[in-house]
Amino acid sequence: MANAGDRFDVLVLGGGSGGYACALRAAELGLDVAVVEKDKLGGTCLHLGCIPTKALLHAAEVADSTRESDQFGIKASLEGVDMPGVNSYKDGVVQRLFTGLQGLVKSRGITVIEGQGRLVGPRTVEVEGQRYDGKHVVLASGSYPRSLPGLEVDGRTVLTSDHALALDRVPSSVIVLGGGVIGVEFASAWRSFGTEVTILEALPRLVPAEDESSSKALERAFRKRGIAFMTGTPFQSVESQDDGVTVTTKGGDTLRAELLLVAVGRGPSTSGQGLEEQGIAMERGFVLTDERLRTNVDAVSAVGDIVPGLQLAHRGFQQGVFVAEDIAGLAPTPIDETGIPRVTYCEPEVASVGLNELVARERYGDEIETVSFDLGGNGKSQILKTQGFVKLIRRTNGPVVGVHMVGSRVGELIGEAQLIYNWEAFPEDVAPLIHMHPTQNEALGEAHLALAGKPLHAHV
Ligand code: NAI
Repeated sequence: MANAGDRFDVLVLGGGSGGYACALRAAELGLDVAVVEKDKLGGTCLHLGCIPTKALLHAAEVADSTRESDQFGIKASLEGVDMPGVNSYKDGVVQRLFTGLQGLVKSRGITVIEGQGRLVGPRTVEVEGQRYDGKHVVLASGSYPRSLPGLEVDGRTVLTSDHALALDRVPSSVIVLGGGVIGVEFASAWRSFGTEVTILEALPRLVPAEDESSSKALERAFRKRGIAFMTGTPFQSVESQDDGVTVTTKGGDTLRAELLLVAVGRGPSTSGQGLEEQGIAMERGFVLTDERLRTNVDAVSAVGDIVPGLQLAHRGFQQGVFVAEDIAGLAPTPIDETGIPRVTYCEPEVASVGLNELVARERYGDEIETVSFDLGGNGKSQILKTQGFVKLIRRTNGPVVGVHMVGSRVGELIGEAQLIYNWEAFPEDVAPLIHMHPTQNEALGEAHLALAGKPLHAHV
């Protein structure tokens, strides 16, 4: 129980991935910690992001496996999708993790202060009229789904991912605005459930932050799955009717559907928290930090989605742990943002770590080599009937600087890929390591064999 006027070693504003990781590590290091949370510990990742969406995508995979069972000689038919049933499975997963997290936070002796916090002094936070002080303050208030100027999200026909996760029916048709991570994941899940989906993306390709080859492979797979998409097509306007929406693109095309999902990025949740008033340097609502995640105000750090960069839960975890260790004087090594693994959990999955080819060429010119191993040569991928590749980029006579993968389940391969990147392994270091047969991991091994000049199941 916190009392007004309490002074903590570390006062964390926001109990999402970044904030709670910081609190857990700081408490483990013997510091007296409080977390201020207005909603639920676990934040976006646990309640409205990573966990529920991946549960939805798993249910989608079950639907696909049932529908396609005949290909494997299994007689089954998909009777339908019971969305309340899917939701109760999804909510059950979230609830179990939430209970576990609450227990963990309690067991470390962390004080949870419920309510909306506001910085009223450089290291003083006011929550529902009570003030608390911290020797250190960590800003970790996360992000919210952004919209576009003039595009009103009504939660009925025009939705964000928050609303989409709570839908109690399978929509007949959806226009997905934005072909980034959220857009393609929802498009994928809905298509598996039987929805007609069209994605509108302003940039020339889906998942534009990924290597161009990954976008191409995903687009090919989506075409085969009957997911329509229009790239290089910015959104112009939407009109809502009783039974749906009419969307107009900048090119003048009009499209009709039951729903519009807005997935054009997430903005930092920093307004109304007194940050500017306390002189914290900000840009477009994001909190600016140095590589040690310190703001310009003494003893105030920031972690997670409010810090410019990848908005990923595991980045938040790592930053939270980093800041706790920094405060405790352990002098941790700054995080290499390029070494943060990325997985988009659509079907097929897209996974990557390190640089894409474009950036690698900008940085190293012609001093790079690439190799792509087709999953057609990988036994387990053939068993799963998936297509895709593992692409590697190395510096000539140097380490692997990028790994890019497309295919069902390749997200699970990112663990090894990130080790290779972050340990600056040369293909020659990886080539002698033995990969279990038959696994999809072998494809990573094979790609390294090829790049080390000794391909096994690949044509030279
Ligand atoms: P995003 O930045 O990945 O994609 C937004 C897309 O919308 C971009 O491709 C952009 O070009 C497009 N866009 C913007 N304005 C447009 C317009 N006027 N017309 C047409 N297209 C337009 O953002 P998203 O997908 O909303 O995700 C938000 C954050 O959440 C991301 O940072 C992402 O990393 C994170 N996230 C991560 C997941 C994962 O790691 N698997 C899953 C879901 C979200």
